Order: sequence, then structure tokens, then C-alpha cells
Amino acid sequence: MSFFNLRIFFLISLSILYHNVLAQQLLPLCIGHRGYPDKFPENTLESLQKALNYGADALESDVRLTKDGQVIMMHDTTLDRTTNGTGLVDDKNWFDYIEYLKSDNESIPIFQDVLDLLKRDENKDVLLIVDIKVNDR
Ligand SMILES: *[C@@H]1O[C@H](CO)[C@@H](O)[C@H](O)[C@H]1NC(C)=O
Ligand SMILES: *[C@@H]1O[C@H](CO)[C@@H](O)[C@H](O)[C@H]1NC(C)=O
Repeated sequence: MSFFNLRIFFLISLSILYHNVLAQQLLPLCIGHRGYPDKFPENTLESLQKALNYGADALESDVRLTKDGQVIMMHDTTLDRTTNGTGLVDDKNWFDYIEYLKSDNESIPIFQDVLDLLKRDENKDVLLIVDIKVNDR
């Protein structure tokens, strides 16, 4: 290879390397908003895991306190839209009520369940964005 060809080769290699580095940095993160709610009930473990299985880099989810102080995965102030229960989340106890509710046949997870899900080997690089909901009635 002549010096000229070598220089071209070097420049092309450098530009490919630069392109790859740049592409990786500029690729937007794919974030599962409340999991994969189009197909699975929002903020359930199934929905969150499915979002990751389909390629999400990160999850965004909501936490809220129950009357008896449990941190649960819930966006709304009330249980009505996403579960078969009714009433304000902060008026209801986890024990003996919310723990038995279903969201399209999926249980309502507590925050610890989601942390456990993300501790699995296959999920260890996942980012979690937690939206802490407060009493805003
Ligand atoms: C909601 O559904 C679950 C599962 O069918 C049931 O165990 C629970 O008692 C139901 N809760 C209410 C308040 O209807
Ligand atoms: C709902 O969940 C219960 C308990 O996990 C299960 O026995 C039942 O088959 C499920 N029903 C449907 C329709 O998925």
C-alpha cells in the first residue's frame, strides 16, 4: 500500500469509528411508559417485563402510598380505572384489600416487586424512572 492509500484507509477507518461512536451517543433511549400499556395492563410486572422483552432501555412508572403505608405501582389517585377496586388509593389499605385487586387479571405490584424484577440478570442494565405521586386531590 502506498503512503497515499494508507492515509485514505486510515481516514476511512477513522470516519467509520467516529460515525459508530456518534450514532451510539445520539440514539434516543426507548422508554416503556408504565410498561407496555397498549398490550398489557399498565404498571403491572407483566407490562414492565414485556416492555423490556420488546427492547425498551428504560422504564417509567408511578408510585403512590396506600393508607397503611405500602408503596404501590399506581398512576391514578383512585383504583377505579385500572383495577376491579374502587376509591382513593390513600383511603385504602394494601393488606386485605389492594393486595387482592386485579388489573385485567394481573396483580397490582408493590415497588419492591419492581426492584426485584430489575435485579434479574437480564434486566441489570435497565434504567428506572420513578414518578412519585403525592396526594393531589
Ligand atoms: C378483584 O378480582 C380478584 C380476582 O378475581 C378477586 O380476588 C377480588 O376479590 C376482586 N376484588 C373486588 C373488590 O372485586
Ligand atoms: C386469572 O388469574 C387466575 C389466577 O392467577 C388464573 O387462575 C386464571 O386462569 C386467569 N384468568 C385469565 C382469563 O387469564
